[in-house]
Amino acid sequence: MRVLGINALFHDPAAALVVDGTIVAAAEEERFSRRKHGKRPVPFSAWETPDLAAAWCLRQAGVCAEDLDAIAYSYDPALHLSPEEAGVHDPFDHLRLTYAQQAPGFLAEGVPGLDPDKVRFVPHHVAHAASAALAAPWGGSCAVLVLDGRGERHSHLAGVYRDGVLEVLASQQLPHSLGLLYEDVTAHLGFLRSSDEFKVMALASYGKPRHAEALRSLVHATGDGGFVTAGADFGALAKPRHPDEEWTAEHADLAASVQLVTEEVLLDLARWLRETTGETRLAMAGGVALNCVANSRLAAGSGFAELWVQPAAGDAGTALGGALELSWRGGEPTAPFTGADLGSGWSDAEIEAVLQTARVAYRRSDDVAEEVAQCLAEDGVVAWYQGRSEFGPRALGHRSLLAHPGRAENLERLNDVKGREQFRPVAPMVRLDRAREVFSCGPVPSPYMLFVHDVAAQWRDRIPAVVHVDGTARIQSVDPATEPLVAAMLTGFERRTGLPIVVNTSLNTAGRPMVDSPRDALECFGSGPVDLLAIGPFVVHRRWAHEGLARE
Ligand SMILES: [Fe+2]
Repeated sequence: MRVLGINALFHDPAAALVVDGTIVAAAEEERFSRRKHGKRPVPFSAWETPDLAAAWCLRQAGVCAEDLDAIAYSYDPALHLSPEEAGVHDPFDHLRLTYAQQAPGFLAEGVPGLDPDKVRFVPHHVAHAASAALAAPWGGSCAVLVLDGRGERHSHLAGVYRDGVLEVLASQQLPHSLGLLYEDVTAHLGFLRSSDEFKVMALASYGKPRHAEALRSLVHATGDGGFVTAGADFGALAKPRHPDEEWTAEHADLAASVQLVTEEVLLDLARWLRETTGETRLAMAGGVALNCVANSRLAAGSGFAELWVQPAAGDAGTALGGALELSWRGGEPTAPFTGADLGSGWSDAEIEAVLQTARVAYRRSDDVAEEVAQCLAEDGVVAWYQGRSEFGPRALGHRSLLAHPGRAENLERLNDVKGREQFRPVAPMVRLDRAREVFSCGPVPSPYMLFVHDVAAQWRDRIPAVVHVDGTARIQSVDPATEPLVAAMLTGFERRTGLPIVVNTSLNTAGRPMVDSPRDALECFGSGPVDLLAIGPFVVHRRWAHEGLARE
C-alpha cells in the first residue's frame, strides 16, 4: 500500500510517503522551494500545497502518482469550527475552510497524475497523534499527547493507542490553546509568530518568572484532561517589544513566566493522562512538543517511564502522521521510526558533479571524519553535509555546522555566521557512551535534541560554547551504531582535545531554510566564514581559496 501524506493548511507544508508500512521519505517544502517555513501561515496561503516535496517523495521511492493508493490531507474541513464559534479573532479563516475543501483539486493540479478521489481528510490532531504514537520506536500500546496552536476546532488531544487504534480521552476546544498563547507572547516580545517560539524559550532562561502567579489564574489545567488559557494581557506585564529593539529584563521575565506556566499545565495534563490510562509510555507531537525545556520536565515529573517526541513534532509531522494513520487503517502496521534522516540524499557521483560544475578546489578525503576532527581541533568552523537530510527543524549530523565547544567565543562566532541573536544557545552533540558523564537531568539517549540537560559543574568551563546561561544544554546523543560517521568524527575530536563533544547547529545562514542539496551547501559555504566543507567523501578547504591553489 502506497500512501502519500500532505501537510498544507497552516504551518510548514510537507510531504511524506509510507510504502507497505515503511516510512520511505519525508521532507518539508522549504528544503526545495528555499522559502523559510515554506510559506507564511496566513489564510491567504492555505491553498498552497507542497508540490515539490510531494514530487520528491515519489521520485525517491520510484512511485508514480497514479500508483498511490491513498493521499492523506492532515485537516478535515467537515470538523471546521468558525472563528465566531471558536471564540478566536481570525477574520479570513473562512479561506482556510474553502481551501481545505478544495485541496484534492489543488493537489491533483500540483502533482500530475494524482487522483483527487483518493484524497482522504485526516483530522489534524489525529494526524499529529499518529505521527508520534504510530512511529514510536516501541511496539504495543502507549498514551499520546498532542498540543499545538489549533486544528479544526481543538488545540489539544489526549488519548491512548492500542493495536494501532486511537481512543481519544480528552480534547481542549478553542479558544483555549497553549500553542496560541505561546505564539501571542512570541509576537508581543517582538519575534515572528509561528516561527520564533524557540527564541522565547531561550530568552526565558535570562528572566525570573515573577508574573507566574498572575498568569496561573488565567492559564491552568482544569483537572479533567483539559485546560484554560483565556484572557492573558501581556501588555500589563511587559511593554511590547519592537523587533529592532534590544530586549530587557522585563521581556525576559515575561518569557520566563509564560514558559513556567506552560510547563506546569503540560505537567498536569501528562499526569492526568498517566493516571487515566495506566500506560507507562507517552508519545508526544504538536508544535508545543518542540519545547525541549518543558519536555525535560515531563520526562522527570509526569510519571511516564518513557517519553518519545517525534522529531518533526510541528505541523510538518502531520504529513507523516496522516500517511501512517491511513496505512494502519489499510491493515499495514508501521515499521518503527529509525531516524530523522528521511529527506533527500545524493550519491558521491552526484555530489562530485556539482563540485565540478562550480569549479571549486576539492579533493576526496582519505578519512573525512578525521579531517573534520583536525579542523575542529584547530578551531575551524565546519559545514558537515552527510547522508540524507533531516525531517524536522533540527540538524542532527546530516546538515550541520560544527565548531569547537571549548572556546566561549564560538557561540558568538556561530551566531554571527547564522545572523542569530546572541542570547540564543548553540547545542552540543556528544557520543552516547559519554553523555551521562557530562549531562544529567534529561533522558539519555536523546538523539533528536528534544530535551535539555544539566551540564555537570566540572564540565562547564571545558565546553563554555554550549552551556546556556542557566547551566543547561540541549544535547544530541550520537550512537555509533546508527550514526557511525558522526561518532567517528567525535572520537577523532576527543583524541585531539579530550572533549567528546562538538558544537552542532543547523547548516544555514540567516533567514534561509536548512541546506538540502549539494548546491545549497556550496552556496552556504561560499557566503559564510566556514573553514571546511565536508560533503560526502569530499572536502573543500577555505584556505585553498586564500592560497589560490587549484585542486583536481
Ligand atoms: Fe498542528
